[in-house]
Amino acid sequence: MNIVNSTITPTIAGRAQAGAGRAQAGAGGVQASAGGARAGLPWPSRLVVETSTRCNLACAMCPKQNGCDDGEGGGDGDFAEELFRALAPAFPRLESLVLNGIGEPLLHPALADFVRQARAAMPPDSTIGFQTNGVLMDEASAMSLIEAGADRICVSLDALDESLYAGIRTGGKLSRTLAAIEALGKARKATGKDRARIGIEFVVRRDNLAELPRVVSWAVKHGVDFMLVSQLFPYEKASVDETAYDANLDLALELRAKHEARGAARGLDITRYPEVYLKYSKTAEDESIVAIVKELQAEAIGRGITLNLERLFRHDATWMEGARRVFAEAHSIAGAAGLELALPEAAPKSQRACEFVEGGSAFVSRDGKVHPCYFLWHRYACHVGGWEKLVAPKSFGSLEERGILEIWNDKAFATFRTTCSATSIPSASTATSPSATMCN
Ligand SMILES: C[S@@+](CC[C@H](N)C(=O)[O-])C[C@H]1O[C@@H](n2cnc3c(N)ncnc32)[C@H](O)[C@@H]1O
Ligand code: SF4
Repeated sequence: MNIVNSTITPTIAGRAQAGAGRAQAGAGGVQASAGGARAGLPWPSRLVVETSTRCNLACAMCPKQNGCDDGEGGGDGDFAEELFRALAPAFPRLESLVLNGIGEPLLHPALADFVRQARAAMPPDSTIGFQTNGVLMDEASAMSLIEAGADRICVSLDALDESLYAGIRTGGKLSRTLAAIEALGKARKATGKDRARIGIEFVVRRDNLAELPRVVSWAVKHGVDFMLVSQLFPYEKASVDETAYDANLDLALELRAKHEARGAARGLDITRYPEVYLKYSKTAEDESIVAIVKELQAEAIGRGITLNLERLFRHDATWMEGARRVFAEAHSIAGAAGLELALPEAAPKSQRACEFVEGGSAFVSRDGKVHPCYFLWHRYACHVGGWEKLVAPKSFGSLEERGILEIWNDKAFATFRTTCSATSIPSASTATSPSATMCN
């Protein structure tokens, strides 16, 4: 079994196919190399190709339903077949190919053909996969995709409760999604392609957190090989209250716990700070609480820890403990059955690497533009840390104009990857991101 912690940044495409490494580490097991060595290679190790931006569902949480794209990225449509052929020079060195971005890949009429072309040219131990809502996956399509060489297919499933599922997957039907997963299992058996791995992606929200252990048990019983659990990323404002992770960074929480304990040792409850700090006439106890919080702030500044006092004192320890217990239960069910499970953090990490970039990956949007990651892929707004953040796409070239290897080796792209690999990136939930520091 493999339990992995992932991050709380957008996980839409690459995460979908995360392998044995951390969630964003990549399709079929492309993991971030030490020090981002893959990012420095003269070829991409992993490509995520947005085969279609069309969709047959309308999930409210999805970037697709939240103004993502705005026409940049070509609007609704499918990845052109000639653009797919333009990726061929990268195939012989590719460790994994993921065939989805925003949208539903099974809507592309040439999906199986793309898989076949790539499989013929990619190394035998490489992986080809995609993530799907499952609506169009029946035994025939599952057979044709697995026959063509797809060996890592992940179906989105966020609840086993009918009404919860329907509330999240607008237009979807739970029975169809479950049937899609079963169809994949049957197709694997019928084709004898045992290396094909079937997965589930579960996006954790406040309303479906309790469903997680149930979905893990279902997955175990139905021959699912791996499960990727990711945190809801707030593309829409309404999602902010649905997020199940803490709004504070891990180090900020540690600092609060430390100073809370210092206060408690002196009989002081520093969680009263929001109530006392504005008081015109403070008691001696109030003054002591304010003083401890000032020390907390000074320590945060000294250690370079990002914190927001209002959020820090709104921290819901009971919820976070509950979330950890649910993750532990899911972990234990998966562990007992040998299911590979990638769990997210309950609070965002202060320091982390961009494993997508370090893993030598690139994202190709449906119009053929090559982007450094699936955060800087389209134009959209997101709501992190209580702020609306506008993200602009960043592209280093288009397949309509230059070859994939030429774009990959473009000086500006190579420099971006090197800089990114050398930088510890703050979590998006603190309202900063690679886009804030490196791009926009
Ligand atoms: C954008 S979809 C594309 C593939 C396919 N249409 C599907 O739903 O699986 C890829 C994954 O992103 C997830 N997703 C959508 N909106 C999200 C959000 N706001 N935060 C985190 N994951 C999200 C979906 O649940 C799905 O697992
Ligand atoms: S099915 Fe996938 S792409 Fe379509 S709206 Fe839902 S999450 Fe977005």
